[in-house]
Amino acid sequence: MPNLKFFGDEQIPLEMHKVRMIQKLDLVPIERRLEASTEAGNNTFLLKNKDIYLDMLTDSGVNAMSDRQVSSMLVADDSYAGSQSWDKCEKAIVDMFGMDHVLPVHQGRAAENILSRTLVTEGSVVPMNYHFTTSKVHVTLNGGTVEEIYYDHALDSVSDHPFKGNMDPDKLESLISAHGAKNVAFVRMEAGTNLIGGQPHSVANLLEVSEICRSNNILLVWDTSLLADNLHFVKNREEKYAGVDTREIIRTCADAVDIIYFSARKLGCVRGGAICVRDHDLYMKMRDFVPLYEGFLSYGGMSIREIEALAVGLEETYDEAMYSQGPIFIEYMVNELVKRGIPVITPAGGLGCHLDAMEFLKHVPVEEYRAGALASAMFIAAGVRGMERGTLSEQREPDGTEVYSKMELLRLALPRRVFTLSQVKYTIDRIDWLWHNREIVGGLKWTEEPPVLRFFFGRLEPTSDWQERLVAKFREDFGDSL
Ligand code: F0G
Repeated sequence: MPNLKFFGDEQIPLEMHKVRMIQKLDLVPIERRLEASTEAGNNTFLLKNKDIYLDMLTDSGVNAMSDRQVSSMLVADDSYAGSQSWDKCEKAIVDMFGMDHVLPVHQGRAAENILSRTLVTEGSVVPMNYHFTTSKVHVTLNGGTVEEIYYDHALDSVSDHPFKGNMDPDKLESLISAHGAKNVAFVRMEAGTNLIGGQPHSVANLLEVSEICRSNNILLVWDTSLLADNLHFVKNREEKYAGVDTREIIRTCADAVDIIYFSARKLGCVRGGAICVRDHDLYMKMRDFVPLYEGFLSYGGMSIREIEALAVGLEETYDEAMYSQGPIFIEYMVNELVKRGIPVITPAGGLGCHLDAMEFLKHVPVEEYRAGALASAMFIAAGVRGMERGTLSEQREPDGTEVYSKMELLRLALPRRVFTLSQVKYTIDRIDWLWHNREIVGGLKWTEEPPVLRFFFGRLEPTSDWQERLVAKFREDFGDSL
């Protein structure tokens, strides 16, 4: 957003775009929302879009594209091999990150599959500033272990630390001495650290981690899926880079790492992904996996039309109006919730607003999945679909022991340029109502629990009749309102 001051007291985020195509939405009555939640096993992943008013599940693949992106799709050079569209996209990726070797993949986790197959060996460790669900599973499937080495304050839900996504360099050094550098498959830094509330890392931290990796001859991998948000925070919270051009900030970071990968479902606002590699031999090792798991080297499982749009989307990422739109709306939402005393992750991060379910539903036993229960309650109360990011998103130990997440979050994603301020205000209003009625909300228990990535397909049921009581209270307070 440009520097813009309001005459009145209310400071609001202002859109630097206009809406020229719309999708009609319905808000079904709360009785139907309860039914839909039951049909979906109280798992928001299993809800049908027709029952959802505001889909805040994720920003993945659902950001609004620009008119320039959509129009670029009409001139795509469709061919199995040698597409000019890929040449254009590859050039945009090389321009952004400065690495000569680029591999296309169909989405971020496909990059993680290839990276882990190439680099992770039985018994190796992979230090991360924090794991992402799929990044961890690919490492463990290949026999490695993930070690999270964040600063102690990273998991404080209420904080004013500007860079909770930083990696602790001292812990990294001790971990390397404990395991021996040759047993460290690679170090992974994630921009806009997803699972701890979209929290950024600083440029300074990445450079420090890079020095440690280089002096120990360890590869540094940078996941830039959430780079746009991270850029906003670097520009606004890291003094040294406030006036620096975004291209230069990205290059400063990219020059300090060995491999970059991203989900273009987030970065570039399309559906796809890529891996960038500096070293030629390493590139050759990874290259063979692309035709095997993704598709030929000039499309990697992506539609050629998306590839055209990605080239444009990456270029648009340098624009403040683009990379700041998500963070300023999220900040507005977080500030409004804080004003109402509602527990939410602070400072505001990227990707979405993260309610702290650990605090919100303090009275629900942790074994009954507080964040999962809040996700279900939020959908019933508002028709807003969020995503559980807590214990349900973890994986049990091989012996079946539950791994309790350090954070129980309900993520309400704000896909870029998708929702209006009035929709955000509606959501705040319903969260506030839920906060006032939180004592009604109870827990969940499994009825079907898949062994891997259980949060996608698992089904649960309420531990009491709390959902019916929530509906009754809604009717009492709102009459016949939707
Ligand atoms: N890395 C990060 C930081 C992510 O947030 C994601 C996906 C991936 C990798 C995997 O990319 O989905 O294209 O395969 N995050 C989505 C989300 C799923 O909803 O936050 P993908």
